[in-house]
Amino acid sequence: MEDDKILEAHKTEEDVFENNIRPQSLKEYVGQKEITDNLHVFIEAAKIRDESLDHVLLYGPPGLGKTTLAHIIANELGVHIKTASGPSIEKSGDLAAILSTLEPGDVLFIDEIHRMPKFIEEILYPAMEDFEMDLVLNSDGKSRNLKIDLPPFTLVGATTRAGDISSPLRDRFGIVSKLNYYSEDELTQIVKRTSRVLSMPIEEEAARLIAKRCRKTPRIANRLFKRIRDFALVAGQETIDFELANDSLKRLKVDDYGLDAIDIEYLKSLIEKFNGGPVGVETIATSIGEEPSTVEDVVEPFLLQEGFIKRTPRGRVVCEKAYDHLKIAHNSSLF
Ligand SMILES: Nc1ncnc2c1ncn2[C@@H]1O[C@H](COP(=O)(O)OP(=O)(O)OP(=O)(O)O)[C@@H](O)[C@H]1O
Ligand SMILES: [Mg+2]
Repeated sequence: MEDDKILEAHKTEEDVFENNIRPQSLKEYVGQKEITDNLHVFIEAAKIRDESLDHVLLYGPPGLGKTTLAHIIANELGVHIKTASGPSIEKSGDLAAILSTLEPGDVLFIDEIHRMPKFIEEILYPAMEDFEMDLVLNSDGKSRNLKIDLPPFTLVGATTRAGDISSPLRDRFGIVSKLNYYSEDELTQIVKRTSRVLSMPIEEEAARLIAKRCRKTPRIANRLFKRIRDFALVAGQETIDFELANDSLKRLKVDDYGLDAIDIEYLKSLIEKFNGGPVGVETIATSIGEEPSTVEDVVEPFLLQEGFIKRTPRGRVVCEKAYDHLKIAHNSSLF
């Protein structure tokens, strides 16, 4: 099971490792050029005007750099960042407590913002628009409204599910950016950067191999690097070369496309149990023993992007590419 784990783009105890290798500035942040170029302009403009930056919504699959970018925005603005996650804000008091710690211009980062309770969202609207918060206080059986002024701040929201964000909330973000999967060149750069930060040299060809096998995701590239570094250490090698990287990836059961055990199980199930689909996400998730949300947020986005599966109104359908990759004969006897 351990081996499967490294390819999940989930948050784990490896957070500490991630924090150590997180780029700290826009300059160090590799790729997503359109987003970072625009952010650079908006941040500089906010600084010149001495105003808070407009609210920013970042969305895209796990591990592509949303949290990293939120911290970079605060660094570039030269302000503090306060972080919270959607499900952890349960009461209006929780939100009030966070908002009351903000200083002018600060960044409030709310991760998994799509999981914030609806009524909290509604309290957030005036906070975002007018930097005001309406609290209802109950005492002696009477309730009264209290308006609290807030300092101007920037809300940075992150989500893997833009579709689950209500449109009134979405409309209140001045800057909405979708993070995309990374190119091989960009991932090679990211691996080389991690190698420098961790003082473990890697040869170009080895870095490129990791870049090819990481589901186009920086988090997975870094995790693979970390594991390969272990193999190097035990083998007494001071540099990661192609052969070591290749052998290690084999031992980690990462295939040519970077598909992991869950991806393969998903595709095999779709083909073998459901005749290639169409099948609903709940059904397929149950058949491989995963949560539907994991399947939808973590497994499917990459398979869709790479053309292994298609989404249709009647459910998921497997594509020719999956049969080829898994070397399963495609029996189109239907026709
Ligand atoms: N553009 C980038 N350049 C260099 N490293 C990056 C980049 N994007 C992400 N990383 C690295 O990948 C790791 C994961 O990034 P991050 O935590 O920001 O992803 P995320 O989008 O917030 O994921 P999740 O949706 O799971 O919260 C970090 O350790 C970071 O160092
Ligand atoms: Mg994150």
